[in-house]
Amino acid sequence: MHIPVLYPEVLDALQPKSGGVFIDATLGGAGHAWGVLKASSPDGRLLGTDADFAAIERCAQRLHEFDARVTLRQCWLDETPELAVQLGFAKVDGILIDLGLSSFQLDEAQRGFSFMREGPLDMRFDTSKGMSAADWVNEADMASMAQVLREYGDVANPMQVAEAICRARPLHTTLDLRRAVVSVARVGRVSRVNPATLVFQALRIMVNDELRRLSQALPKYIEMLKPGGRLAVISFHSLEDGVVKRVFRDAAETHSAQFGFGAQQFVHEAQVAVITKKPIQPSEAECRENTRARSARLRVVERI
Ligand SMILES: C[S@@+](CC[C@H](N)C(=O)[O-])C[C@H]1O[C@@H](n2cnc3c(N)ncnc32)[C@H](O)[C@@H]1O
Repeated sequence: MHIPVLYPEVLDALQPKSGGVFIDATLGGAGHAWGVLKASSPDGRLLGTDADFAAIERCAQRLHEFDARVTLRQCWLDETPELAVQLGFAKVDGILIDLGLSSFQLDEAQRGFSFMREGPLDMRFDTSKGMSAADWVNEADMASMAQVLREYGDVANPMQVAEAICRARPLHTTLDLRRAVVSVARVGRVSRVNPATLVFQALRIMVNDELRRLSQALPKYIEMLKPGGRLAVISFHSLEDGVVKRVFRDAAETHSAQFGFGAQQFVHEAQVAVITKKPIQPSEAECRENTRARSARLRVVERI
């Protein structure tokens, strides 16, 4: 079971209505998508995508009642905009991106996302291709590994952890990695966070190329919005939130620049208004009910 985070806030942001056209680019368990389809009855349409094929299969069942109003495809979120054009979703009223992992992925030991469960050290959202986390930790040089741990995990002692991982090679399972990390454990700069959490986060971001995909995708999604259409993004750590904030701020600014002796002027008009000056965070009650919600931040823009 995956409990969608900030559920009423997302529906409030997207304001789904009948006749509306929507994209959910991180379908997960289709909790939010179901709400969007219900609220846009009887004829709102939704394109749902996810890099994880298991999510698409699960959501096909969950959204069965909406029949032809739903189109589902497996793809990365930076591929969704092009696919959307091919599938007749070129201009839309609302887009949701709810980043990170679903509870299904975290709970399934075989996926290798959790250091609490023994399983193969995989961590790929799309298990059909690419390098698993095990492939990478068994091949990477120590300096690159330390850099990934520092940049994507804010690990306090990245060089020591990278050394410990290299010493423990070959690593095959999530617990192999946890043991290597714990052997040199120091609490991260983000206090009270288990060092294994930060290392697992860093590797997952790297294996799935998450930050590059997000920063390249967001401007494309902004282009796809109809005037008045909204893009809502839920992030779960400061690196993701930083990317969202920067792209939204740039898209909300009007820039002008002058080039050459003829002083030709180019003006880039603001494309969006930022609806959430500060990110929306879950209430204490929501965090008590769903601990996964604790670090969620929702930011929303509206196309001008
Ligand atoms: C937090 S869950 C979404 C939950 C969903 N909103 C719900 O209500 O059930 C995140 C989902 O996004 C997918 N995902 C994460 N990063 C992705 C990316 N860069 N491209 C495509 N899918 C991604 C994951 O596979 C996961 O299924």
